[in-house]
Amino acid sequence: MNVTITRVLPFLLLVLGVYLWIGYAITELTGGGRKSSAAVDISPEGGEAIYWGKGRCFTCHSVGGQGSAVRGPNHGQFGEKFPLAMGARAVERAKERTEKEGMEFTAIDYTVESLASPGAYVVKGYKNEMAVVYAPPISLNLKEIKAVIAYLMTLGGDLDMAAIDTKPSEVTLGFYAKIAAAAEAGGGDPGLGAQVYEDNCTDCHTLNGEGGEVGPDLTGISAKGLKFISEAILQPAKALTKGFETYVAVDKEGRQTVGLKTRDEAGEVDITKANGDVVTIAKGELKEIKIDDTKSIMPDDLSEAMTVKDYQDILSFLMLQKPKPAE
Ligand code: HEC
Ligand code: HEC
Repeated sequence: MNVTITRVLPFLLLVLGVYLWIGYAITELTGGGRKSSAAVDISPEGGEAIYWGKGRCFTCHSVGGQGSAVRGPNHGQFGEKFPLAMGARAVERAKERTEKEGMEFTAIDYTVESLASPGAYVVKGYKNEMAVVYAPPISLNLKEIKAVIAYLMTLGGDLDMAAIDTKPSEVTLGFYAKIAAAAEAGGGDPGLGAQVYEDNCTDCHTLNGEGGEVGPDLTGISAKGLKFISEAILQPAKALTKGFETYVAVDKEGRQTVGLKTRDEAGEVDITKANGDVVTIAKGELKEIKIDDTKSIMPDDLSEAMTVKDYQDILSFLMLQKPKPAE
């Protein structure tokens, strides 16, 4: 990872965490997600509201002189770099895609693809940094995505609602199916998530019989839900898993040991530290032992080591960890 990324990421992840939290808070306030998604209108106006709101497109894109973000291409007609607004530009990009893939791409197919598989065509001069908008924290559903596409098509292009909504092409249908399936599993790529898990988690957690035993067994963890899992990663201390509380033991010489209490017998206690080392302390030597519920043994800066994409990928990997059916 290069230096700018390591510097910017912690901040991004913090922002992401705040969005997640706000999203949940709002969902809770409005009585659940169903209500808010039902409110979306599959229309250019509905899409415009999402573009400048929930979809957070405006954090990276501008439309002509509207907005100031430059991380992604301008979606309007703007200067020499953007002679065509997105609706018309998509027609040109579709021709390139048709040639490269050897199958017919329409302007809508291209636009849907840029949301469903942003890495498939990376606009020249930009990095493959387009957000996965159907994954947390943005988490647009299919209806909202259709609305955004309708909005983009009105920017200099022809709007064909049927091709977006009721009679999509085969190519578009394929992308819609991918979005629907991926959204259900957290939006990331579970295959890549397995590697992120291997790199960051397996030393402490057991999954399907393999891995470390410092933290709880994560086999079947999807049963606890996406919200629970993402909070467990972003803010481990917020809800410590029962039986995995953080103990602080201070001996008579003032030496402090922090870890999980993994054995407590008449004469001594074992404290297992985050690195897996077990420290045995005779009770006679203990001055004090207490739970610190503001800290988890699970590091709270794990998300800093991951990109937003890694985080989305690992969430989808964990969401596929289904409980084993009872024998
Ligand atoms: C984190 C920044 C970011 C966010 C958020 C984001 N995008 Fe992008 N987007 C990019 C970047 C960077 C590119 C160019 C690289 C590429 O082609 O993947 C891009 C490319 C695109 C393109 C292709 C543009 C072209 O000229 O062909 C479309 C369409 C698009 N984004 C739509 C959206 C929509 C709609 C949203 C909101 C739902 C959104 N983006 C949110 C960064 C972002
Ligand atoms: C240094 C050891 C350590 C590492 C590394 C670690 N964890 Fe944990 N994890 C723990 C401990 C200890 C707990 C229990 C305390 C708590 O709830 O924070 C825990 C709790 C959890 C829980 C809640 C489980 C439940 O059933 O309540 C999840 C989910 C989780 N970790 C996921 C992860 C993921 C994903 C990674 C890698 C990105 C990871 N952990 C890395 C030690 C670790």
